[in-house]
Amino acid sequence: MEFYDVITTRRSIRGYQADPIPEASLQRIANAINLAPSACNRQPWRFEIVMNPEYRARIGAVYRQPWLLDAPAIVLAIGNRDTCWKRLEGTPVIDIDIAIAMEHMVLAATAEGLATCWICAYDQARMNAAAGVTAPWEVLAISPLGYGNVAPAAIARKSPDETVTIIR
Ligand SMILES: Cc1cc2nc3c(=O)[nH]c(=O)nc-3n(C[C@H](O)[C@H](O)[C@H](O)COP(=O)(O)O)c2cc1C
Repeated sequence: MEFYDVITTRRSIRGYQADPIPEASLQRIANAINLAPSACNRQPWRFEIVMNPEYRARIGAVYRQPWLLDAPAIVLAIGNRDTCWKRLEGTPVIDIDIAIAMEHMVLAATAEGLATCWICAYDQARMNAAAGVTAPWEVLAISPLGYGNVAPAAIARKSPDETVTIIR
């Protein structure tokens, strides 16, 4: 899929069919995550693509939307606030690093014809516990991964004129 088609096709999808994800797609998505830039190239993350039913059930008990467990896989973006690069005043950039890598996953999935939905609206301590993740690691975002079976929600975007200024 052409890059700008990927950008326009990608939407948050909140309905999934159970069909399995082809292995070649999984490998290309894993590579896309790994190619994401990160500050000082620290790559302070580990991503999990979870197909194990018991593990998925633990995640689904924390984020209780049925469509999450309808998908054959759940992606966990797990970041390390200690090993990531820090700004000069000491602020960690882990949220930026993770967001870029997560969006690589999302866009690669779109290019594979798969659907995703960024999810952050969960109790983070409970999600960390469900995933067996302990400090300095934390589950910063999750997403279902699979073939969608619903249309995306109707949304409107601001005009690019409002959000982007081209200063010549
Ligand atoms: C950081 C982040 C967190 C989000 N968390 C959730 C969430 O917890 N649950 C959910 O259904 N959608 C979540 N979304 C999806 C947004 O609602 C969605 O991206 C936005 O409404 C725009 O729609 P679109 O992705 O279809 O273009 C999240 C998106 C982002 C970027």
